Amino acid sequence: MAKKPGSGAGGNTPTGKNTSGRGQRDLKVKVKTARGRKLSSTMWLQRQLNDPYVKRAQIDGYRGRAAYKILELNERYNFLVPGARVVDLGCAPGGWCQVAVPRVNALGERAGKAQGFVLGVDLQEVVPIAGAEIHQLDFMADEADAQVKAWLGGNADVVMSDMAASSSGHKQTDHLRIIALCEAAAALAFDVLEPGGTFVAKVLAGGAEQGLQALLKKRFDKVANVKPAASRSDSSEKFVVAMGFRGPQA
Ligand SMILES: C[S@@+](CC[C@H](N)C(=O)[O-])C[C@H]1O[C@@H](n2cnc3c(N)ncnc32)[C@H](O)[C@@H]1O
Repeated sequence: MAKKPGSGAGGNTPTGKNTSGRGQRDLKVKVKTARGRKLSSTMWLQRQLNDPYVKRAQIDGYRGRAAYKILELNERYNFLVPGARVVDLGCAPGGWCQVAVPRVNALGERAGKAQGFVLGVDLQEVVPIAGAEIHQLDFMADEADAQVKAWLGGNADVVMSDMAASSSGHKQTDHLRIIALCEAAAALAFDVLEPGGTFVAKVLAGGAEQGLQALLKKRFDKVANVKPAASRSDSSEKFVVAMGFRGPQA
């Protein structure tokens, strides 16, 4: 049975178990085509029902399989630490926030550890998550940056973006849209990150990300490109993790 949202998502890393889903019995669910359902919907349903990360998210109490991507990135680079102030752009339905809250000690439950906070924003409404402050906002709207800064009320240690516009069905258009979202997220990061801070963003490979990479390399000590195991192999999605922000004047 799935746990209540948030209940199983904190504390120790759920990825202590097998995050790859390998080693599980391969009981593949087949979905029959149904009248009125498009082939693409049937295929999506079949993929969801057979996706080990979807199953694991239900067991672990995460709101979506995306949680395992940030878990893996954090296991590698350890940026979600107690006391960290985190901005989560494109946070709906809330998996990344669920991962961040216990790790930065946003609820102050870990005695002797600094208390951080998590600020999430999304176009969509998000069911509240204890320990996260979440606002509905179009981050591409005029003044969105200023609005986020006002909610933040200071600097951040981590700016992370999983923002993605709905697929247009045209690969290059989707690529350019996601790069625009990343660039907007990076602009906020340049503005609010504390020196030494971390920027994480989802990109789709397609060419235009090279400019963003070059910019990040100038502003951060280290820039890595990662394809987490939870990222579908048939997707051009990858994540850029930029660490060691050199500060606003760099
Ligand atoms: C893949 S989902 C994020 C999943 C999330 N990281 C999680 O773990 O639950 C991408 C999100 O980006 C949001 N998004 C896309 N464009 C946006 C924009 N302009 N401003 C704010 N959010 C946006 C979408 O509404 C969507 O919820």
